[in-house]
Amino acid sequence: MALQNDLFLQACRGVRPSRTPVWMMRQAGRYLAEYRAIRAKVSFTELCRTPELCAEVTLQPIDILGVDAAILFSDILVVFDALGVDVIFDPAPRIEQPVRTAADIARLRWGDPREACDYVFAAVRACKAALADRVPLIGFCGAPFTTLSYLVEGGGSRTFEHIKGLLFREPGVFHGLMEKITGLLVTYLQAQVESGADVLQIFDSWAGALAPEDYREHVLPHLDRLVRETQAATGVPVILFARGNANILADVATIPADVLGIDWTIELGAAIDVVGEGRVVQGNLDPTVLLSNPATIEAKTRAVLAAGRRAKAHIFNLGHGISKHTDPGLAKRMIEVVQGG
Ligand code: CP3
Repeated sequence: MALQNDLFLQACRGVRPSRTPVWMMRQAGRYLAEYRAIRAKVSFTELCRTPELCAEVTLQPIDILGVDAAILFSDILVVFDALGVDVIFDPAPRIEQPVRTAADIARLRWGDPREACDYVFAAVRACKAALADRVPLIGFCGAPFTTLSYLVEGGGSRTFEHIKGLLFREPGVFHGLMEKITGLLVTYLQAQVESGADVLQIFDSWAGALAPEDYREHVLPHLDRLVRETQAATGVPVILFARGNANILADVATIPADVLGIDWTIELGAAIDVVGEGRVVQGNLDPTVLLSNPATIEAKTRAVLAAGRRAKAHIFNLGHGISKHTDPGLAKRMIEVVQGG
């Protein structure tokens, strides 16, 4: 079926659409009263496991804000179901028994994500049915390094000393885990596309934890494999978002992702200089700008829009996820400015 609004898809495929499409990372979430109303009734885990509710919250930002793409409501860490590792969302994720020793690693199950995460694919189908081809649906996963970070750290971290300690102390073990998780993520993304996802985004949220040379040597080859194998297996555009250190952008740009996500630590124009005018970029308004006022939001939104004109195509987005303290009315103002208002 043809999409009613395919501006986002055109941009992902390298065609500059008639106007810049816009969506927001973490657009379904706690800043929306409608989301909080559902969360008052079910836990985050239960929400992720109930396809009809996933579809309902996935559509909230489409109906309320009019964004040009939907992103599946789920989490990058539900894939741990395939490893037999439980995650508690409180709301920040926590793993009771982080994977740190040889014995911990030996206990990992490496099951088939098609079975272990069947509710994710059911949610993709429910989202597609509910969207009725209004806008494209984005599926996603965490990048190998970010995913492993949570597994080894047991949650978020300031220092990443467990995962980095493992990398520097036992590079063979680290690379073995990276290889296995990469293979699993290809299957996970492929199953999302088979269920209806139109585009995929890979989140390397903790890319900035490593020194550039270590990221290049120990992370990039796995990320490159994930992107290439996913593109070959699915045929849909892949967006790669590596966050936290603009110094690695030139290295990230060696990966043939269809779209490069840009965080807010570099001006969009400077990012285009680094990745080249032949690439499609996505980003990069600092999400905390949305905590200000209409005049500031309009000015800063227009500056990002203007900078994006030099790229092959530009998808407007925030430079990271939207804050839960955002007034939806101000987010809507940003979206209206991008859409020509
Ligand atoms: O973007 C969307 O609207 C789709 C849903 C989505 C969620 N998490 C929902 C969620 C997506 C794409 C993610 C990705 C995700 N999850 C990332 C990568 C993006 C990034 O922000 O860097 C990461 C690192 C995670 C891990 C995770 N899950 C964290 C750190 C948290 C706590 C966040 C917080 O603000 O407290 C979660 C929980 C989570 N995932 C929530 C939501 C809406 C909040 C849970 C709640 O409703 O109580």
